[in-house]
Amino acid sequence: MNQQIFIQEVMPRDGLQNEDQFVPTSEKIKFINQLGAAGVDKIEATSFVSPKAIPNLRDASEVMKGIQKYPNTTYAALVPNLKGAERAVEAGVDEINLLVSSSNTHNLKNVRRTTDETFDNFSEIIQFLSNYNVSLNGSLGTTFGCPFEGDVPFEKIYELVEKYLKLGVNGITLADTTGMATPKHVKELCSELTKRYPEVTFTLHFHNTRGMGLANVISGIQTGINRFDASLGGVGGCPFAPGATGNICTEDLVHMLKFMDYDVNPDLDQLIQISQQLSDTLKRELPGQVIKSGKITDLHSSVNA
Ligand code: COA
Ligand code: ZN
Repeated sequence: MNQQIFIQEVMPRDGLQNEDQFVPTSEKIKFINQLGAAGVDKIEATSFVSPKAIPNLRDASEVMKGIQKYPNTTYAALVPNLKGAERAVEAGVDEINLLVSSSNTHNLKNVRRTTDETFDNFSEIIQFLSNYNVSLNGSLGTTFGCPFEGDVPFEKIYELVEKYLKLGVNGITLADTTGMATPKHVKELCSELTKRYPEVTFTLHFHNTRGMGLANVISGIQTGINRFDASLGGVGGCPFAPGATGNICTEDLVHMLKFMDYDVNPDLDQLIQISQQLSDTLKRELPGQVIKSGKITDLHSSVNA
């Protein structure tokens, strides 16, 4: 039997937060519905952050309330504080994604709090959520390097993973916010993490800022991790990290895994179609490759036209 790899779509959140235009609410809902129909395993549909911090996602509640939920897809949203958690629960999310950066400098830029203050805020979120049936994921930004502080010691990551586990999260995402991970780094850190915390469901979240995104996925799979965040067309990035660019591209990721005989749920042709529509909506060429070249099975006529 082939190994199953789970595909988690972050375009509606990581992708759209960094665009220089507001995508209309109805368009966002349309894309999320199409992604559900295509069979992605999880969708980070929006974030319930301050509309002043991320104006593009100021319609989080309308988006979450307006989508059609597919039964095999989990609908998640990023939440930075208690107010965000209250809004997210009211709008009907399945999963809340908490975020803290392993680097204090990036955390201060992103959420204007130290990492310790952020964990203090998480406690009140957990207390509030105890009354609701909502799953909890903990994301760790700048896990593989910080654009301000540089290297992040492995010990720091273990410490923050343990803090998340104490809070009782259901899963942990290791995010490479500005594409600083190399396949070697991924292998070393993730094999250590999967050995130390075998019961934890880890997700890897890579940005393709330096062209190492898919190589990092292969490295991650070799350590036993089978969940990956990706963004349709390869859009995305953190507005509070200098030089941040797009996530790994969903259709490129699915294309690679499918032709390497991994089992993946989303339908590749549908993903390519949705990505083309996204390119039309954003009125620009997206960074993804397969959308430009077609699949490796799309052959050309040898007869000159
Ligand atoms: N949803 C809606 N509004 C919120 C909010 C939330 N989750 N959190 C705070 N606000 C509002 C407050 O009501 C307040 O509004 P007012 O000025 O009208 O009174 C204002 O935002 C400031 O609130 P405060 O608690 O002082 O927040 P802050 O200014 O210190 O900002 C965060 C802290 C965390 C809310 C903000 O930095 C943020 O949302 N960051 C998200 C960053 C992000 O998403 N980055 C991309 C991910 S990589
Ligand atoms: Zn990201």
